[in-house]
Amino acid sequence: MTYGNLPPEGYPASSKWLHWLVAALVLPAIAVGLYLPYTQPGPFQDGLFNAHKAFGVLILVLMIVRILNRFAVGAPAPEPGIAPWQKTVSSAVHGLLYVLLVVQPVIGYTANSAFGASVPFFSLFEIPPIVEKNDALAERLFAIHRVIGISIAFLAAMHIGAALQHAILMRDGVLQRMLPRALGGR
Ligand code: HEM
Ligand code: HEM
Repeated sequence: MTYGNLPPEGYPASSKWLHWLVAALVLPAIAVGLYLPYTQPGPFQDGLFNAHKAFGVLILVLMIVRILNRFAVGAPAPEPGIAPWQKTVSSAVHGLLYVLLVVQPVIGYTANSAFGASVPFFSLFEIPPIVEKNDALAERLFAIHRVIGISIAFLAAMHIGAALQHAILMRDGVLQRMLPRALGGR
């Protein structure tokens, strides 16, 4: 992916829209996913499952658009003054998040099909299963889905912590690179 082809002021509007839309879906998807094992079967649990699955499918679609957008528009050069190790760590975290946010919904969807459960997309239509029912496969894929889900939660926490540190402690322009102009972004 092209990195640093744009001036360091900030991300293009399309990248900002996609970043915040995906963030607004990923954070509830993680929270609901982690809360699901503590719920009892019933309409409330069904609602949470359906929301989690629909959010996950939307994340997959948006991530495909986001990767194409990233290839098309690239990204700004690093904020001046950022230490080389910070550039390396932030690129690694961003790259991992890009990969895991595509892999995770694909595994979740495949596991869900193998389990024999439906994917009603916000009560609008059913997304058809991708594999035949297979309990052993479902169990293995859900175990992977759990590990990747927890990894995404850690990476997102690191990422948000770093963004807040730049904004509050270091007071450089890193957060402003991703904020909409209306909220003080560049
Ligand atoms: C980026 C998107 C997604 C994220 C970040 C995510 C994250 C998670 C997390 C953190 C859990 C909790 C695991 C546990 O503690 O047991 C979970 C569970 C689950 N997810 Fe996802 N998920 C995503 C997409 C999907 C999709 C697209 C589907 C299906 C269409 C799905 C179906 C499920 C199901 C059925 C469970 C419960 C599994 C179990 O009971 O072991 N997820 N997800
Ligand atoms: C309050 C929440 C968040 C804040 C304040 C935030 C802030 C930022 C900032 C400032 C950047 C630009 C970094 C730079 O200039 O080098 C960025 C990039 C990025 N963020 Fe976030 N973020 C948040 C949530 C998330 C979430 C939940 C995810 C995904 C799980 C995510 C994934 C990414 C990725 C992949 C990039 C790299 C974009 C690219 O280079 O194409 N962010 N974020």
